[in-house]
Amino acid sequence: MMESNYLNTKPSTIQVWDLGVRIFHWALLAAVIVAAMTGFFGSPDSLQIHLIAGVSISLLVLFRLIWGFSGSTYARFRTFLFSPDKVRGRIQEMLTGRHTRYLGHNPLGGWMIFALLACLTLIVCTGSVVLGGVFKQGPLAFVTSFATGRFVQEIHQIFAFGLVGLVGLHLAGVAYETVFGKEKLVSAMISGNKPDSSDVPAPPFARARPFVALIAFVVFGMAGTVGVASFAARPGLGVPTAAVDPLYAKECGACHFAYHPSMGTAALWDGILSHLDQHFGEDASLPEATRTKLVAYLKENSSEHWDTRVSHVLATANPKEPLRFTATRFWTRMHREIPDKAFASKAVGFKGACNACHSDAKTGLFAPQNIEIPEGARL
Ligand code: HEC
Ligand code: HEC
Repeated sequence: MMESNYLNTKPSTIQVWDLGVRIFHWALLAAVIVAAMTGFFGSPDSLQIHLIAGVSISLLVLFRLIWGFSGSTYARFRTFLFSPDKVRGRIQEMLTGRHTRYLGHNPLGGWMIFALLACLTLIVCTGSVVLGGVFKQGPLAFVTSFATGRFVQEIHQIFAFGLVGLVGLHLAGVAYETVFGKEKLVSAMISGNKPDSSDVPAPPFARARPFVALIAFVVFGMAGTVGVASFAARPGLGVPTAAVDPLYAKECGACHFAYHPSMGTAALWDGILSHLDQHFGEDASLPEATRTKLVAYLKENSSEHWDTRVSHVLATANPKEPLRFTATRFWTRMHREIPDKAFASKAVGFKGACNACHSDAKTGLFAPQNIEIPEGARL
């Protein structure tokens, strides 16, 4: 480029998209595809991948925000932050079939980038609220109620559909430029280069400052990580932290694992403890003094007192079998794909052996990351 300038002949191509923009673009595409697939079509075991994709997207957006002030000419926000007049002009041009060439983003394309970045930021933020409220995980678990999490889950979904819409428009824009502008936009985003032309107004030249960007990324990234980690270490709102009462664990853990008190409503515990001599076909009778203690303990720690997912979703009893978690609508729906043979297998035993597949069952949390059907029950 130096030589050609020296010879006073314009180079035939010009680098428009620097390496930072190109890596960002394709890495973001990959992360968004993974997040969308696991979000729209995933099961509980894909939550972890969804979270990794979400964290990747937030780091990529952070990088892009920094690069918008430290990248080379066409990476900088000021080169594609166009006034509404310019946007209107662009739309009029499109309607009348005229075409002004832009080397970087055109006014509509520029606003699309800001819209995409804003939408992604909102998706990441609402996602953290859902993770905190519904799953009691992540930096917002200590302040977010289950109800808030469920409500924001709808908003998270609306933004996710919004992103799909924006991506569709973005692709339509690329197709339009390819057809009417005769621009090879896809290969330009791979090589970074576009054919130069002297009649295109060039924005003021800016040199990329990768070191400044790196330092900013490390500083903001570290501050963010420390903040997230310290918030995430706080106990979740309405999450039981005390170990299960030893007397209860002994008496009610003799035949099956001792269900966490937060799993059952006061009514369920009352019902179970009032008919111990006819306990699902077994005699589980206890001395009256022990029984009274257990009733008090279970009622004090019943689902009404907690705000975990299970304390809400298992609370609606099935009137036909009000004393079974495994008869609730939620439970039946969640486990409908598991064959009866798997529950009956030696490794599990019966439907109520939650701990056979949920390694955190005794804490009452039932995190999606802690589900594994044991070897002997996989058919
Ligand atoms: C003598 C053995 C025995 C003891 C002791 C025992 N249980 Fe059970 N429990 C059972 C059996 C058997 C079932 C039904 C298993 C099945 O569905 O096949 C059951 C089922 C349950 C269920 C329903 C699980 C579901 O969702 O299907 C609950 C709740 C329960 N027990 C609570 C308790 C509590 C609370 C105690 C302590 C007071 C207790 N159990 C003590 C044998 C016992
Ligand atoms: C045979 C293994 C097995 C047993 C036993 C079992 N589960 Fe599950 N559970 C699973 C699997 C697998 C999933 C995920 C289903 C899916 O992929 O949609 C699941 C999902 C769940 C979920 C939803 C998790 C989420 O994040 O979406 C909850 C809550 C749950 N189970 C509670 C229970 C309770 C309570 C019991 C006992 C009364 C129980 N499970 C017994 C295997 C089991």
